[in-house]
Amino acid sequence: MIDRRFLLMNADLIRVYLRKSATFITLSGIVDKFRISGGRALHGRDSISGAKNSALPCMAAALLTPETVTLHNIPYVRDIITQRRLLEDIGATVLTPELRTHKITAAHVELFEAPYELVKTMRASVLALGPLLARFGKAKVSLPGGCAIGTRPIDLHLAGFEKFGAEVKLEAGNVVARAPSDGRLRGADIHFGKVTVTGTENLMMAATLARGYTTLRNAAREPEIVDLADLLNKMGARVNGAGSETIQIEGVESLGGAEHTIIPDRIETGTFIAAAALTQGELEIKDCRPDHLTSVISQLISVGVVIKEVNPTTLQVTCPDGLKAVNVSTAPYPEFPTDMQAQYMVLMTQAQGRSEIVETVFENRFMHASELQRMGAQIQIEGRTAIVDGPTTLNGARVIASDLRASASLVLAGLIARDETLIDRVYHIDRGYEKIEAKLRAVGANIERIIAPVTAAQSSEFNVQVTPTREQAEA
Ligand code: EPU
Repeated sequence: MIDRRFLLMNADLIRVYLRKSATFITLSGIVDKFRISGGRALHGRDSISGAKNSALPCMAAALLTPETVTLHNIPYVRDIITQRRLLEDIGATVLTPELRTHKITAAHVELFEAPYELVKTMRASVLALGPLLARFGKAKVSLPGGCAIGTRPIDLHLAGFEKFGAEVKLEAGNVVARAPSDGRLRGADIHFGKVTVTGTENLMMAATLARGYTTLRNAAREPEIVDLADLLNKMGARVNGAGSETIQIEGVESLGGAEHTIIPDRIETGTFIAAAALTQGELEIKDCRPDHLTSVISQLISVGVVIKEVNPTTLQVTCPDGLKAVNVSTAPYPEFPTDMQAQYMVLMTQAQGRSEIVETVFENRFMHASELQRMGAQIQIEGRTAIVDGPTTLNGARVIASDLRASASLVLAGLIARDETLIDRVYHIDRGYEKIEAKLRAVGANIERIIAPVTAAQSSEFNVQVTPTREQAEA
């Protein structure tokens, strides 16, 4: 029998050991769950962490230079640990003089690839492709397959690299790309057929070292794109127009070191706004960027949430008069983000009336709906539309997290449910939310992490996977 205190004290070490020794544990292991006793209003102050989806490309950008890139405000989440491992496997050194500061030096790159083992756990590993190809003229990245939220191809990234003059081949499940014979990509005029966030980031990074000028049209406009462009310009790149539909990049011979602070996480901010409103509490949300959440804030105000900007980095959230149903459709920035769709669905279960939520970005991002139904929510799915009737009382249940934002929605549901909710597979939430249970507990939530030892027999019941599989890698 394993001692529970031993497991709690050594959980991280055990996980590292398990990850190194196997990706799929069929013998004994540990698996985290959240136990939430719902019904408490949240009161107090919480601070927002750095944006995971900005930190990931900024870390990849460090591969563009042999000099040191220092990044501050890196969130302490699992995807960052995976990205760090990718950089280290490639040959970079990553120092963390402080918990949220990474000093990355890619002076001696020995490997020009992102292997299957990493790409299958985190799709954002494909962000290594652009920098490696641009700086070293070659790169190999395992082709990510579908995942819990859709098929998610990277054809637009690859078509862009071909326009830069690279030869791109698919060999044994890997994308193998080579620059033209002089080793350098050529600037190009690229029109994205569909708005893609990491596609824009990958091509923007590659273009910084390409010969000549690049124009990226129909580019993603997310704040994370602007943050990456800011870092690249500090490194000596010439990127203009990030944040608009057209980005222009003048290629330079080489890039140097830089120091940069990652922007606050707008999706974590939105999730905490939803938590305050749902529990009818009062939260002060610090260290955020309300200007990155314009569509989210206006949508939430339209449903009855009261959001006051205390200062440019602090919001105060209450919901004194309850929620009313309002339709929403997700779309690329600056529209309502797909990464807030699941959390919004929970709000609508508590709203007066019927609402329709249309998911236009991913084809399969309603996995949370069936778990919410198990808790008593009235939701029907018709293609890409979820029809929610409210308000309904949610009842605690045992539920399973299927992807990062779905997990966040289950936590929100647990906070307002009657009785106890037990959420399985919270490794999904650990990928992108820094210590969410500690932040929620600090403002009054009754939530605890259970680090449960799993025996061989239980592991098949729980389907214990210490490292998420390809199907579960969504970021
Ligand atoms: N698409 C293509 N071809 C491509 C690229 C994308 O058809 O080559 C399609 C996708 O299948 C999808 C749409 O275009 O239907 C948008 O995908 P996008 O490329 O923008 O998504 P991503 O870059 O893979 C990032 C975030 C996601 C977030 C989406 C949309 C990172 C690391 N990930 O993914 O974040 O949902 O943009 O905003 O930035 C999350 O944090 O939970 C998460 C999933």
